[in-house]
Amino acid sequence: MIKLEHVHKTFAEHKALVDISTEFPEHKTTVILGPSGSGKSTLLRSLNLLERPESGTYQLDDLTINYAEPISTATTLDVRRRTGMVFQGFNLFPHLTVLQNLIEGPVHVLKHDKAAATKEAQELLAKVGLADKADVYPNQLSGGQAQRVAIARSLAMHPDYIFLDEPTSALDPELELEVLKVLLKIARDQQSMIIVTHNMAFAQKVADKILFVEDGQIQFDGSSQDFFNTDNARIKAFVSAMTFATLD
Ligand SMILES: Nc1ncnc2c1ncn2[C@@H]1O[C@H](COP(=O)(O)OP(=O)(O)OP(=O)(O)O)[C@@H](O)[C@H]1O
Ligand SMILES: [Mg+2]
Repeated sequence: MIKLEHVHKTFAEHKALVDISTEFPEHKTTVILGPSGSGKSTLLRSLNLLERPESGTYQLDDLTINYAEPISTATTLDVRRRTGMVFQGFNLFPHLTVLQNLIEGPVHVLKHDKAAATKEAQELLAKVGLADKADVYPNQLSGGQAQRVAIARSLAMHPDYIFLDEPTSALDPELELEVLKVLLKIARDQQSMIIVTHNMAFAQKVADKILFVEDGQIQFDGSSQDFFNTDNARIKAFVSAMTFATLD
């Protein structure tokens, strides 16, 4: 379970996160929605300690962090080990094959046996539909394939949570679809995930819980069903604008 209480983050004069208190249940998918600049990435990055709020507490299972106090390197590494971040730009190691990308963390960071890590990597590649790409280099992959490798690489580390910040925004619609299908499959396996997306159809399908953020504040915190059936005029306007945008 991830729990935030009274989290504030300011960039110079700009209040990016204002008194954020919420929970991200385990074995569920939480989707963060909101207009551009509303603080979605800042929120996600704060959970991976890539961003450092000034105040508030962050609870990750048995670990509690007070953002206002110094955070040790050991704690930072612990948080990063328990949480996997998948970036928009894939961030695969270009000089390693797909398989080597997948076993790098398990072998060198987690100290797993290489043969076992290789076996699991092959299973994960099959899961994301890329069993035949184990021996190619990242520059030989399409964007959608590269993103699926990045997702498999994240799964190989067995993080408690996987965070994805607009994982398909760099992809054209067909490639996007193949990545979204993989994420739906992983969600159904009950991997705990937090996903920032602008794709409403995907959000509606994958989300157990929705957070709608605007101006750094949580404007909705509840079930996906309640979000998409709300009478709230602002949320209805947002969903309809975003749905229309995807029809362009
Ligand atoms: N490093 C930074 N320095 C200064 N301001 C920042 C920084 N990072 C983010 N901001 C500001 O904080 C606000 C929230 O940014 P954030 O990236 O979290 O928005 P977002 O909801 O992810 O937007 P988008 O949908 O466009 O990705 C924005 O006004 C942004 O300009
Ligand atoms: Mg963002």
